[in-house]
Amino acid sequence: MVKEKDKDLLPIHRFTGHQYSRLLNLRRGTIPRLIAVATFIVILYLLFGPTRDQSATQPPFPSSERNDTVDLSWNERLNWRRGQEEEIISRRSIYSPEMFQPKALKTNGLKPVTVVLLGWKRQEGLKTVVQYLAKYPYFKEILIWNNNKQARLNVKDFELNSTNAAHLEIRVFNSDENLHDLSKYTTCSMARYDHCYFQDDDWLNLYLDSIYTNFLRYPNLIHSNTMPIIHLEHRRWQFTNPAIDMHTGFTWLGCGAFIPRSKVLRFLAQLGSNGLSKDRLRVADMYFSIWTNQYPYQMSNPLTPLDQKEGWSDGVDQWRIVYQNIYDASSKLYEALAANAVDHFMREEEQPRPDQRDTRAPCLNDKCLFLTNIDPFPLPTSVVFDNVNVTQVRMQETQFDKLDFPSNDFWTKHAYHYAVDRDDNTCWNSYKAPHAGDYFGLHMLTAINSKHVTILSSQNINHLENVFAISTSTNGDRWVGFSPLYIYFPKIARLARTDSMNHVTCKYQPLKDAVVSSDPHRLHIGFLCPAAEPFRFLRIEFQRDLPEPFEVCSLGLEGFNV
Ligand SMILES: *[C@@H]1O[C@H](CO)[C@@H](O)[C@H](O)[C@H]1NC(C)=O
Ligand SMILES: *[C@@H]1O[C@H](CO)[C@@H](O)[C@H](O)[C@H]1NC(C)=O
Ligand SMILES: *[C@@H]1O[C@H](CO)[C@@H](O)[C@H](O)[C@H]1NC(C)=O
Repeated sequence: MVKEKDKDLLPIHRFTGHQYSRLLNLRRGTIPRLIAVATFIVILYLLFGPTRDQSATQPPFPSSERNDTVDLSWNERLNWRRGQEEEIISRRSIYSPEMFQPKALKTNGLKPVTVVLLGWKRQEGLKTVVQYLAKYPYFKEILIWNNNKQARLNVKDFELNSTNAAHLEIRVFNSDENLHDLSKYTTCSMARYDHCYFQDDDWLNLYLDSIYTNFLRYPNLIHSNTMPIIHLEHRRWQFTNPAIDMHTGFTWLGCGAFIPRSKVLRFLAQLGSNGLSKDRLRVADMYFSIWTNQYPYQMSNPLTPLDQKEGWSDGVDQWRIVYQNIYDASSKLYEALAANAVDHFMREEEQPRPDQRDTRAPCLNDKCLFLTNIDPFPLPTSVVFDNVNVTQVRMQETQFDKLDFPSNDFWTKHAYHYAVDRDDNTCWNSYKAPHAGDYFGLHMLTAINSKHVTILSSQNINHLENVFAISTSTNGDRWVGFSPLYIYFPKIARLARTDSMNHVTCKYQPLKDAVVSSDPHRLHIGFLCPAAEPFRFLRIEFQRDLPEPFEVCSLGLEGFNV
């Protein structure tokens, strides 16, 4: 039981809309905040005023309170779970609190982040999440919005102190009303920093550094992560129509997502002007990513569940609600874009576009990311959305299912993360046969110096040395390349074109016979750059078309195996 202890030291905030708007004004009087205040007041009216939009098909929630029975059909979809107790305890960030001091931030390009968490019934889970997130120094602020009137929360409940959370400011808001999903967005609008991190209290995210590092490269986009099979599902739930600049996709946010606060403020304005019903506002998560009109940058990896009782998903007919609201979100976006009036929806597609993205999965040790341009799923433009021909999400799925992409079973066994999961017996499979120019590789969180790379495959690959070209980069933009077949292959001109600035040619370095493996599954490639500077990115590029899909079970550099 949570008690209201130490009242004077750490008062419990009980928030009303009025107090909320005062707080917004106090903390920074910028125009977006004023918009957010106005929007919030509209939203409060929508939530607590007379119920409108009676015609909305069926209320997303049953009128009674939640049904806490565990729905087995839902949980079956989560069968990728794996416990990682020892990992949870030993994980440490590669970033240090000093890097997030105001002075350091002026020059190092890092971004401090506000964590937004919701309190409901899983207080132990919430405490575990808070203590875990406190280990990561980019989280300089944690805002907890407690939607549970029966169990007030207090900052002290989280047992943080100057040892484990010196860099951190934590605030708890006890709400008198359950604002459901919506409270994530209103709370993020109060954040001190320009980016928020959302996570539910029933997961731990063991890949925070990896996802944060990828977020730093493209901080304008939503960065989320989910298990491979849900990633596959999300690929079906992309809604594209080039004629009206519609280029969006759905993502769950509860397993950990970095989000620009500007997108949240825009979303509040969208909610204010679209007059969604109360029931739909409660499931605002199903609208948010779609209404950004951008494809979220999503990683695919195993997840780590905490106690999952008492959740929203228990007992309600979740899939009906999900499908209805995702369709409603897409359909309303479509209408707005087609009307082409002045509104709060973005038209311009943000970079990098899906076909330019290559970060796919965090490494199991959270020290790197797996890269490949080979995407086994169709690009979003392969299915065009409009709300006349497509009247429900199932119809969109039917269109997508006609295309060529991996089956659930294939993807469960061969998703990206198996290349970097420290298990030689599980392998990423490219699904498509690689073409010349396709590549895979690593983005390491800290720079390393290495002169050879080892690829482990389920296939016989030790004769394929000349198939690959290696290039490295310190920043992911400027590449230093070498090819064992440099003089024979004119295609290297393509490499040279993209890497023209300060282009350095590295030499192929033959390995000693002893090193050249007798193991047919193992391929060692030696390389040597004259600049010899440590690098963070490594690309292994196919120099010619292969007849079959390629498998990578493991990758290794000197002192760095994944
Ligand atoms: C701080 O909290 C941690 C974890 O709850 C605890 O182990 C540690 O003893 C506390 N330190 C102080 C100085 O209170
Ligand atoms: C709660 O949900 C379960 C699983 O969906 C269902 O079998 C049960 O009948 C529900 N109970 C109530 C009281 O609605
Ligand atoms: C519906 O599909 C038809 C046939 O593909 C197409 O010509 C038409 O433009 C579509 N309707 C809308 C509103 O896009």
